[in-house]
Amino acid sequence: MKISKSNYSKIADYYDKVRHIRADVWIPRIIQYGKIENRSLVLDVGCGTGSFARSLLSLRSATIFSIDNSLKMLKKASAKNKTRKIHWILSDAHKLPFKNNCFDCVYMTLVVHHFENKELALQEVYRALKKGGSCVIMTHSHYRIKRHFLRDFPGITAIDLKRFPSIPFLKILMEKIGFKNVHSHLASKTKDTLQLLKSWKRSKTSSSQP
Ligand SMILES: C[S@@+](CC[C@H](N)C(=O)[O-])C[C@H]1O[C@@H](n2cnc3c(N)ncnc32)[C@H](O)[C@@H]1O
Repeated sequence: MKISKSNYSKIADYYDKVRHIRADVWIPRIIQYGKIENRSLVLDVGCGTGSFARSLLSLRSATIFSIDNSLKMLKKASAKNKTRKIHWILSDAHKLPFKNNCFDCVYMTLVVHHFENKELALQEVYRALKKGGSCVIMTHSHYRIKRHFLRDFPGITAIDLKRFPSIPFLKILMEKIGFKNVHSHLASKTKDTLQLLKSWKRSKTSSSQP
């Protein structure tokens, strides 16, 4: 089955109308798992229209670098928020424009399935994280995909099972890259908020430095 690549610039104008996730509901989990403090330096990978970065800023006075490879999504994001605490940057996750060991936390929400080369993109995240920094990945598990779509939309289930990496796959991949203390957490909250939050905590040791 060939799955075409997503182009968010085509849907940027109406993305917020169709994206029902409540960033304000989930950002406390990201703050908790990512150990985000007021002075933290945070990277938001695949920020889209920036709802998670804005919610984060309402709870923590962190400095946030929000990257996306769609200029139109970034323009939507920056139009909503001109604060100097969020830096909107056009960049591909496979080649992050940051030095090694910069960030206290890197998070991404519903982005990991878009990476053409997941290993390369997550290696970049690992490189950009400080020693002891945390990476939080929010995604859908295969369990959730099957439960949500199987009954009414079996065709979509098959596509999503192929698109989304499984949690065990991500865990093995992250450990191979060097992430330590990799955990997953079920994060469903209400019956209509079928999201899973996957938290991958990472503590770099000197020997695991790139
Ligand atoms: C489903 S949207 C999620 C947006 C946002 N994180 C949210 O939760 O609302 C996926 C986003 O990832 C971006 N994206 C996909 N592949 C990317 C890549 N390789 N590098 C950077 N951004 C990417 C898309 O342009 C899109 O804005």
